[in-house]
Amino acid sequence: MAKTHIVMLVAVIFLATVLSAESWEEKCPGDPGYVETWTKNFWSLFNIFTNEEHVRVGQNGDYVQMQLDEQCAAVYGSRHQYYTGRMSVKLKLPCGNSSGTVFAFYTSSDGKKPYHDEIDIELLGNETSSCITMQTNIFVNGKGDREMRHNLNWFNPCDDYHEYYILWNSAMVVIGVDDIPIRVFKNNEQYGLPYFNKGQGLYVSYWDGSSWATQGGRIKIDFALNGPFVAHMHSFHDLQGCQVPSEDNIWQCQYPAQRPCWDRPWVNHYLTQQQIWDYNWVNGEFCTYDYCKDVARFAATGKPAECNLPRY
Ligand SMILES: *[C@@H]1O[C@H](CO)[C@@H](O)[C@H](O)[C@H]1NC(C)=O
Ligand SMILES: *[C@@H]1O[C@H](CO)[C@@H](O)[C@H](O)[C@H]1NC(C)=O
Repeated sequence: MAKTHIVMLVAVIFLATVLSAESWEEKCPGDPGYVETWTKNFWSLFNIFTNEEHVRVGQNGDYVQMQLDEQCAAVYGSRHQYYTGRMSVKLKLPCGNSSGTVFAFYTSSDGKKPYHDEIDIELLGNETSSCITMQTNIFVNGKGDREMRHNLNWFNPCDDYHEYYILWNSAMVVIGVDDIPIRVFKNNEQYGLPYFNKGQGLYVSYWDGSSWATQGGRIKIDFALNGPFVAHMHSFHDLQGCQVPSEDNIWQCQYPAQRPCWDRPWVNHYLTQQQIWDYNWVNGEFCTYDYCKDVARFAATGKPAECNLPRY
């Protein structure tokens, strides 16, 4: 055989191997032929941390109602720890005056404090439901100070269910609402910056943040006037994550045998053109605080290093 034939044969074998490897790739929600292999509902995923009066579960674990009142807050959290995933909640907040309330949806390696990792979404109540603010923050190895705030004014969080999500994969974290990516935190390890390296639990809480939440803490919660505050959630089967045995034991999820659905290089390691457009629109119109632009705050120390790198 001529040399070129051998080269071609090798190339064909190589291509065939690569292509068939791709066809073994796990099917993901939304792919043709995808079958859910286990029952996911509230009970299979979560534990309630406060009393059950304040976290009421219905519809076979596919619906939850959280109540914040003068007696207590409402808190639930995942049974397991994860390393990467796509965690989301379909949430409807109460209408009306929710001043002083905070609805938090976050991941955290709580047991590792003060060197923990954490990804936060906090929805801060306000005098009208059309002025609710989303505050986000990201901790890596115990270092946070990365607050951003967006006023959720392009929709009303009380009019219907909206999806709030955290996509966390080996390339980046995206925090979004419905189809719009609001915030991106990239894996910049190639530039020597730390990225998440611990398993994290998922927590949901509804609590009194009077001291700081609404208009800088000026407007306190008033249960008699505005309470009780009731939030509704559904669709827990949408939660996907790579489960780890503990916060320290993440090896299988750091180097998985196959890429999980939320960590596919050609799908969710970058924003699409449409997502970039939406991201820029939301950040241009609705961002009210960005730590990367807070010159006074970082005057002494200099801006966090990721602020000098592309954000997405
Ligand atoms: C609440 O509404 C006020 C007035 O509309 C607005 O300035 C503020 O950013 C909103 N959010 C919070 C968390 O206070
Ligand atoms: C909203 O409720 C707060 C108490 O939480 C009250 O001080 C404020 O006046 C109310 N705002 C409106 C517009 O009713």
